[in-house]
Amino acid sequence: MKEIYLDNAATTKPLQEVADVVADTMINVYGNPSSLHKKGVEAETIIKSSNEFISKMIGCGQDELIYTSGGTESNNAAIIGISTAYHRTGNRIITSAIEHPSVLETFKYLESLGFEVVSVPVDREGYIQTEALEEAVNPQTILVSIMHVNNELGTVQNLEKIGRLVKVKNSAAFFHVDAVQSFGKLPIHVKKAKIDLLSASAHKFYGPRGIGFLYKAKSTRIVPIFYGGGQQKNNRSGTENVPGIAGMLEACRYVHANSKQLRTHYLECKHYLAHHILHNIPDTFVNGPEADQGAPHILNIGFRNVRAEVLLHALEQKGIYVSSGSACASNKKVHSHALAAIGNKKDDFDNAIRFSFGLETNKEMLDKTAAVLKEQVELLRRYTLGGKRP
Ligand SMILES: Cc1ncc(COP(=O)(O)O)c(C=O)c1O
Repeated sequence: MKEIYLDNAATTKPLQEVADVVADTMINVYGNPSSLHKKGVEAETIIKSSNEFISKMIGCGQDELIYTSGGTESNNAAIIGISTAYHRTGNRIITSAIEHPSVLETFKYLESLGFEVVSVPVDREGYIQTEALEEAVNPQTILVSIMHVNNELGTVQNLEKIGRLVKVKNSAAFFHVDAVQSFGKLPIHVKKAKIDLLSASAHKFYGPRGIGFLYKAKSTRIVPIFYGGGQQKNNRSGTENVPGIAGMLEACRYVHANSKQLRTHYLECKHYLAHHILHNIPDTFVNGPEADQGAPHILNIGFRNVRAEVLLHALEQKGIYVSSGSACASNKKVHSHALAAIGNKKDDFDNAIRFSFGLETNKEMLDKTAAVLKEQVELLRRYTLGGKRP
């Protein structure tokens, strides 16, 4: 059975060139970048090449990048780092209702320490309600953390508008962006959008797992979450993951060189599948922005009277891999906070499937997916609506 992988927002299959570079660096460039001898300099050269390339991609300085273990660490380092460094300036930290758990849980932790957390609501499609944000930013605000692309709905926030709004209300407040779902897919210019900190993760754009970066403007101070040897200008102690950085750099080069073609390809996949589902399967609807808007690689569709988790496993039986918004944790149902935040009715909490496209997705895969979906949804509905067990 041929696999059909439509879960690229969860992670992507690394490029062969990426795997080759990682292996080559592990074997041949094994020096510690902090070592003063030639082996160290060789390793440091890879980090410098990466600084040079990524800084051009997002419009920052070469000395404004910190390498981390990925999106979760970058988000923690930014949010905890700013809150700890500037707690004497103010106590209010702001985020949105649809952030990734690596942001939401970090905010909850800081709330438990006494910070005042404000969660800004979103509209029916997942866009930040800017008036609410404007109202929330006050003189006590030290941080606003808003994601670029929502991982479940694909909503793309207008960063320039948000950055401007934050700085107009309080020029001392820092603006952090979780760009884990957008870096390598959509253009980002940190200076234009007045972004002070930005998180990215390589495994979302054909790089290795366990490596990412945090952009931190030079003028911004964070208290580190790791203490030790003082690497990366004391911002993140620990020997740098040089093979990971080399692999991420290779992935950056690929997505940068092919950015337009990739975007067009994802969009074509999204429109094609959305059209086939919405026209051929009754009682289906898009969650988040309409299929011709939003992030090119994410499509979230609700299937009325179908439990997403059951449909996910039915698709898995046919070699098709997707995500659902809800999950069962220790027998306790966990609903998608994003679907709740956009105002879905309770009945539409548990029927959403996220399809996310990658460079290997093709028309044949989407045709098969659409056909299997039609067949399985009909079967499951017959059972759900009181018919015989399929
Ligand atoms: C929006 C967003 N932020 C953060 C993360 C966490 O990234 P990582 O898996 O690299 O820790 C993810 C991963 O799913 C994500 O989609």
